[in-house]
Amino acid sequence: MSFINEYKQYLDIVEEWLRGVLPPESLSNDDFPEKKIYEAMKYSLMAGGKRIRPVLSLAVCNLLNGDIKEVLPFAGAIELIHTYSLIHDDIPCMDNDDYRRGKPTNHKVFGEAMAVLAGDGLLNLAFEIMLRETIKGDNKNFSRLKTAYMISTSSGVKGMIGGQVIDMESEKTAISYDVLCQMHRKKTGALIRASVLAPAILLDAGKDIVDKLENYAENIGLAFQIKDDILDFEGDSKIVGKSTGSDTVNNKSTFVSILGIEKAKELLRTSVENAVNALNGMNNNNFLAQIAVFIAERDK
Ligand code: IPE
Ligand code: IPE
Ligand code: MG
Ligand code: MG
Ligand code: MG
Repeated sequence: MSFINEYKQYLDIVEEWLRGVLPPESLSNDDFPEKKIYEAMKYSLMAGGKRIRPVLSLAVCNLLNGDIKEVLPFAGAIELIHTYSLIHDDIPCMDNDDYRRGKPTNHKVFGEAMAVLAGDGLLNLAFEIMLRETIKGDNKNFSRLKTAYMISTSSGVKGMIGGQVIDMESEKTAISYDVLCQMHRKKTGALIRASVLAPAILLDAGKDIVDKLENYAENIGLAFQIKDDILDFEGDSKIVGKSTGSDTVNNKSTFVSILGIEKAKELLRTSVENAVNALNGMNNNNFLAQIAVFIAERDK
């Protein structure tokens, strides 16, 4: 199967699952006076992101011959957490951006207060869904709990939120290359790593496999943020689907601002190579290798 078709196959599964997690639009205002929150959550969630995180989880699940149904709630939860992080990332007190996933940002449509709550709502829904998985009546609950724990660590202050804090701080003072790498490892790397490792934990994969996947994940995580910074610098906002030039306006420290565009592109190539090499010795690794290349070549 071609790369595009396999991606589409995973994407369809993810989209269908995501459509099912929020209540239908036909809710009556009388029964649900809080209806607006669902509209705001759905607006950003269903706006059509790349879904690369859940796609990675499903692809790793396939590589490990696991059951997609077991992995999907965790893969979807990561996408809910990621979407919340984007809504909050765009609000005026953070990056102050107007355009996301090809549409006006959440706060532009629903107002800042509702955007904060929509983010909170998506975050909590992710944990509700993961915890529901851990109380099923079978013998896999401990693996599910370990997976939920890993995802919570990756999205909290030790992971994504910590990275966002370094990012905000870096607006005021230039940071070293070392701190830049720490920032990326948390801000973007942690959730990407969680997406790759979630199926391995759920399916109790051996240490050798987990080590290889971890090495792969760290390298695609790095590649992903370098490319994100490059797209902000030279991408076309209409194609990227979000505001570009925002890092320059906000005086952010990025791979482009610290290394320069040519060195950033060189590091992008090296990280993709390292990601592909990390998969050596694993069967059926073709799709994951192609994802690494896709991350570098994407124009959105
Ligand atoms: C953008 O993430 C923010 C970063 C973590 C760099 P994506 O590029 O995955 O955004 P969507 O989900 O496709 O909109
Ligand atoms: C934010 O990084 C990553 C998140 C945790 C949301 P950016 O601020 O660079 O993400 P974009 O470029 O706005 O998508
Ligand atoms: Mg940001
Ligand atoms: Mg931003
Ligand atoms: Mg960016």
